[in-house]
Amino acid sequence: MTDMTQNIVKLKDELTGMVTASNDLPSLEQARITALGKKGRITDLMKTLGGMTPEERKTTGAALNELKNEIADLIKKQELALKKQVMDEKLATETIDVTLPVRPEAKGSIHPISQTIEELITIFAAMDFTVAEGPDIEDDWHNFTALNFPPGHPAREMQDTFFLPDNPNETGEKAKKVLRTHTSSTQIRYMTEHKPPIRTIMMGRVYRSDHDMTHTPMFHQMEALVIDKETHMGHLKGCLMDFVRAYFEIDDLPVRFRPSFFPFTEPSAEIDIGCTRKDGGLKIGAGDDWLEIGGSGMVHPNVLKNCGIDPDEYQGFAFGMGIDRIAMLKYGIPDLRTFFESDTRWLNHYRFDPLNRPNRATNS
Ligand code: DAH
Repeated sequence: MTDMTQNIVKLKDELTGMVTASNDLPSLEQARITALGKKGRITDLMKTLGGMTPEERKTTGAALNELKNEIADLIKKQELALKKQVMDEKLATETIDVTLPVRPEAKGSIHPISQTIEELITIFAAMDFTVAEGPDIEDDWHNFTALNFPPGHPAREMQDTFFLPDNPNETGEKAKKVLRTHTSSTQIRYMTEHKPPIRTIMMGRVYRSDHDMTHTPMFHQMEALVIDKETHMGHLKGCLMDFVRAYFEIDDLPVRFRPSFFPFTEPSAEIDIGCTRKDGGLKIGAGDDWLEIGGSGMVHPNVLKNCGIDPDEYQGFAFGMGIDRIAMLKYGIPDLRTFFESDTRWLNHYRFDPLNRPNRATNS
């Protein structure tokens, strides 16, 4: 055995002893530096390779590399063993009292719009409705034309539309993009993709270029759609009355249907609920006054045709309303704009408990 080989064997014993004797992570790190660091023992020996004959360099180089790998593996193993030991000690000494109550100050809260959406879904789910969504960026066909607003129709003026630049890769009505002005566009998408019977609600953000105390450029709507054989106005009225009474939690809430016009329904009606106005205040429930909360009607035969549904076989009804508006009415929130200001004082005042989700027992 050459001197060098003997040295390597001795060094291996010495370093192995040092690594296995390390009984915590800092001393193991110290052992790693001593063995493999820039000025470590193996590195020092590597540096002597330059002064050797090619023959010596070959065998010594290979032996040193092998030593380096063995020591590195050993350090890894020791590290895992030490980490496991630390974890085992922690598990044995630290226990968590799972019966401690949640710290109230650390709890997140639910925004009134999200809360209202959850309530709507809960109520309609109990009436067997599914939930659908559509895109915020719509095309002219889904937002207007298919809903029986032909180009140039005066009813398009009712909607202060945000128009986007035309898409050069598409043609015709699909090229013209808008921020949807209502969730009724989702009715078209849903009826085109699903065969009747249909019983679904649609919800989300809508956009109109309006901004004052009662209008924000972005707000939320919900929409209900039922398509079946022999569906009639009586079903529309019954469904709406059940819904508003469940939502406002007033069993005898008066509901009034007032004839109106929407291009996509015929006949159409606006929905009013009973209220009392006194000294600038508003109270919902039986009273001497009415408050408008949304639009409704029997789906126009042209709309059904535009979605590939035969109007001689199927009829249906739809209604829609502003989610923000019904949230303001139920929770006594006076200014619409405050919904979107992210003022934490406001959120703390109107917040909802995330652990207390709506269900039909608390919301009927
Ligand atoms: N889309 C209408 C609006 O934004 C609201 C509406 C009216 C929706 C009648 C409906 C409906 O589904 O049947 O003003």
